[in-house]
Amino acid sequence: LPVENFAPRVLAWFDEHGRKSLPWQENKTPYRVWISEIMLQQTQVMTVIPYYHKFMTSFPDVEALADAEQDEVLAHWSGLGYYARARNMHKAAKILVDEFDSEFPQTVEGVCELPGIGRSTAAAILSISRDVQAAILDGNVKRVLGRFHAVPTWPGEKKTENAMWDLAESYMPSERCGDYTQAMMDLGATLCTRSKPQCLICPLESDCQAKLTEDPTQFPIRKPK
Ligand code: ADE
Repeated sequence: LPVENFAPRVLAWFDEHGRKSLPWQENKTPYRVWISEIMLQQTQVMTVIPYYHKFMTSFPDVEALADAEQDEVLAHWSGLGYYARARNMHKAAKILVDEFDSEFPQTVEGVCELPGIGRSTAAAILSISRDVQAAILDGNVKRVLGRFHAVPTWPGEKKTENAMWDLAESYMPSERCGDYTQAMMDLGATLCTRSKPQCLICPLESDCQAKLTEDPTQFPIRKPK
């Protein structure tokens, strides 16, 4: 599959089947997308929704979050788990207000300076909120790319991860960057799932290298013992 045909296929699938009315998909400011991405890191979409609404009501912008007491922020996290996420987020809000004039940085490198935000989350925030051409590589995308290319090595290895970053960057289109990011997440979360991929209705099926093997779920390769 020519590299330039990958994103159009994924986007066409997204236009028909992707999720487009989740709460954080309305009014996609960097702040709103950031909070959603942190909540979604270890928690399912359906669980996150009510937490997200309450959080936005209490802390509608980065100033409100920076001004809040830590206990109040943590109370909004009660039930989501992984409290370090909330503490880092609160710390990052203070840094944004105190040192960045409450403006989100415009580059992946800049956003990565904030506590609790790595390269993939930074790229998700910037692509979804500002259509910056920055590729993500989360667990979902590692699975999609690991299967599409039948990557023969474990993505936990630095070399493999770097190669996957290169693939992710190579497929990132120059237009509709945010939709593409959301589309890749949705493809991994709803079709190219870990144990029951729905290859029959996947837009990438005809060129997927894992699909040619006996068992596509053997990709991405698991951690060697
Ligand atoms: N998981 C992480 N980010 C997500 C998003 N934006 N939509 C759905 N699932 C996600």
